[in-house]
Formats: sequence, C-alpha cells, structure tokens
Amino acid sequence: MTKERSSFSGKVGFVLAAAGSAVGLGNLWRFPYLAAKYGGGIFLLVYLILAVTFGFALMVTEIAIGRKTGLSAIGAYRKLNKKYAFIGWISALVPIIIFPYYSVIGGWVVKYLFEFVRGQGSAAAGNDYFNQFIAEPVQPVLWLAIFIGLTALIVLLGVEKGVEKASKIMMPTLVILTLGITIYTIVQPGAWEGVLYYITPDFSKFTVNTVLGAMGQMFYSMSLAMGIMITYGSYMKKDVNLETSAKQIELFDTGFAFLAGLMIVPAVFIFSGGDESQLNQGPGLMFSTLPKVFDSMPLGGVIGAAFFLLVLFAALTSAISLMETVVSILQVRFHWNRKLTCLLVLLGAFLIALPSSLGYGALSFIQPLGMSVLDFFDFISNSVLMPIVALMTCLFVSLVVKTQLISDEVKLSSPFKREKLFVVVIRYVAPVFIVLILVSSVMNAMGWITI
Ligand code: TRP
Repeated sequence: MTKERSSFSGKVGFVLAAAGSAVGLGNLWRFPYLAAKYGGGIFLLVYLILAVTFGFALMVTEIAIGRKTGLSAIGAYRKLNKKYAFIGWISALVPIIIFPYYSVIGGWVVKYLFEFVRGQGSAAAGNDYFNQFIAEPVQPVLWLAIFIGLTALIVLLGVEKGVEKASKIMMPTLVILTLGITIYTIVQPGAWEGVLYYITPDFSKFTVNTVLGAMGQMFYSMSLAMGIMITYGSYMKKDVNLETSAKQIELFDTGFAFLAGLMIVPAVFIFSGGDESQLNQGPGLMFSTLPKVFDSMPLGGVIGAAFFLLVLFAALTSAISLMETVVSILQVRFHWNRKLTCLLVLLGAFLIALPSSLGYGALSFIQPLGMSVLDFFDFISNSVLMPIVALMTCLFVSLVVKTQLISDEVKLSSPFKREKLFVVVIRYVAPVFIVLILVSSVMNAMGWITI
C-alpha cells in the first residue's frame, strides 16, 4: 500500500517542522540537569564539539535516507537493502521506550502549571516541595494520566494540525520568555559564579561519563538515532538545501538548550547558598529551581504560569509526535486499525510509565543498575540503544550503501560543503568512538570498571 506523501511547503517549512519536533523537554528539562551534573563548561564544550561533527553527519545521513527513499525508518532501510531492515526495527524501539517516561515528566509540567494557575507558585518554591511531590503514592500518577490522556486525545481526534498551528505562536513566545527569565536570573547577586561554572570548561572534571552523557543528550535532543529524522526527510522536497537545513535545525536546537541551561544552572548557585550538591539533583533540577526564580521576581506567579503553559506545549508537541511514531510502527507491523492502536498505545504506555512515575516514592526500592526506574529507561534508550542505532547507521552507510549515496542525495539540491567532514566522521571517527564509549559505559553501569 503506498500512501501519498505531502511535502512541506516553502523553504523554511521543513526546518520549522523538524526543529519543532526536536525542541521539547530535552532542551529545557534534560540538557540543564546534565550540564549541571557533568561539570558545566566541560559538558557544554564536549556537547558543542559532538554537535558540529557527529550530530551534523548523522543528521545529514538520516534526512538524506528519508528523502531518497520517501519512507520512514523501517521501510527506508528495507528499501536500501532488504537484509538490513532490522536497523529500522531497532531504531523503532527507541520512541517506544521514550514515550512512557517522557509522559511522566510531561505530567510534572502539568502539575506545576496547575499549582501556578491556582496561585500556589510560592509553595512550589519550598525546599523539599518537589521531592515530596514525586514521593507521593497517587499524585504523580494522576498527572501522568492527565498528560498522556491529553496526548492520546489529540492523536485520536486527529487534531494535531491545530496543535501545530498554535505551536507556531507558542514556541517563539517560549523562546522570548526564556530569554527574559535568563536575563533576569543572570543579573542577580550570586549568579555570576554559576554563569562561569556553566561556560568555563574545567578539564579536571572531564570523564568518559561526560562524553557519554553529552552524546546521549545530543541524540535525544535532536531526535537522532531513532528514525525520526528519516521520517522528516521523507517529506522533504528535492530542491530544499539539505545541508543548510541540517545545520539550521542543529543551531536552533542547540541554541535553545544553551539558553535553557543559562536560565537554570546559575539559578542553582543563587539559591543553593554555595551547596554544590544541588547541581547533582538530576531529573528534578528544573522543577526545584525555577519556582524559586519565579518566587523572587515581581509578577512571578503569572510569569511562572505562562512559562509552564508554554513548556507544556513544547512537551505536548513532542509527545504527540512520539505517540504518532509508536502508533504507526504498530500499524505497519500488525495492521491494526488506527483507533484501536491508539487506545492500546495509550494503555500500554501508561502501564510502562507507572514504575517510572512511582520510582521516587512507593517503588523507590526498585533500583535497576542502581538507578531510579525513570533514569534506567532513560539510560537504556539514550546511552545504550541510541548509540547502537547510530553505530549501525554509520556502518550501514559506509560499508553497505556507501557514503556516496548520501552525498549524491545531498548534492541534488546544493553543493555538499562539508562532504569531507561527513565522510571521515561516518566512516572512521563515529564508529570507533561509539564502540569505545558504549563498552566503557555498559561496563561502568554493571560495576565492572569505574570511570
Ligand atoms: N527531541 C525531543 C526533545 O528534545 C524529544 C524526542 C525524542 C522526540 N524523540 C522524539 C520528539 C521523537 C519527537 C519525536 O524533547
């Protein structure tokens, strides 16, 4: 069965749509807590180096595979070479793992929005507020159910177009508001120390984990190594400049992540009274820090409500696209009808998300590999599966279809300026690098070595 593929209109249409899917909780929630945890400036530096080399090469590859075949991941790999369809299937696992726990964080966002709207923003600024909230037995699950229900409703009713339209206004507003909050934060007394921590690389803090963390974050944030950019590429017209588009998506995604870090990391310094262990909080960092910022500013209650509403939008657009992906994978595989598939995905994802949601309270005794359940799913997708998919993609391109196939696709629309960089990264740098990182990280997680 072949389906007509509509293309994005105009030259900027593709970049906007792909960047819209890439920008989400990855930038606002995940990037800042990783930067804080892995040494600030050194994490930033490693991330930037990876983004302009590895990220760029992989982004170009995925978009080109999509545009060349006109298919999403599973079909695309099969069309290029029947024997390697399994790469598509493995990449399809990633959104299946991410969607449930993404919804847990989405639920936290709805909770904070609710509290700010009903004027309880100041309470949320309390020191232990976040930890008490996620340790409760029922509340986090309730908010998870609301977020995942909302996402499913939008997908079921097929009103994604409306959400996309609204996000054209909401996303720029979010960027502007984030910029405003950042400026407010960094001029506060005590913030400078945090700004320096965030932008000055301290090489003594460099570890293998810094690289692993930065690499996983890059995949996650740019929606790479999970087939998503292949799908976007399949909708791209042949005359749109592929290389420039890849660069623009990266620039936008990285720029916004940088800004989010600048908003949150220095704020940790302002309110922690010099307690650096606050930097190590992990997934809760944004939720425990930002209410304090809002509490300290005039009209903070209103600004906080507006901020969490906009974040909810960014999270919803990503969650919708994640759910859509999962639904279409199952439809392709099992030929179920769409409504039934949506309901099954809703139910399945909710059940899988439950342990992540309760992992900080009722189920905190479950500690796979010494992590919380949410961190565990996050680790499996970002630090294990995505590097594996990225590695297989590199090997597939360099050994099976050859890099020339990608280069030719890029050159359909423009000269390929960074072709040399692309070839060297895909053939040599990336595969060697991923194997090293992957092996050491898994050994570390198992407790066999300490890095
Ligand atoms: N990149 C998105 C973010 O930064 C998260 C994400 C991961 C995503 N995989 C996706 C979004 C697939 C849409 C589709 O939040």
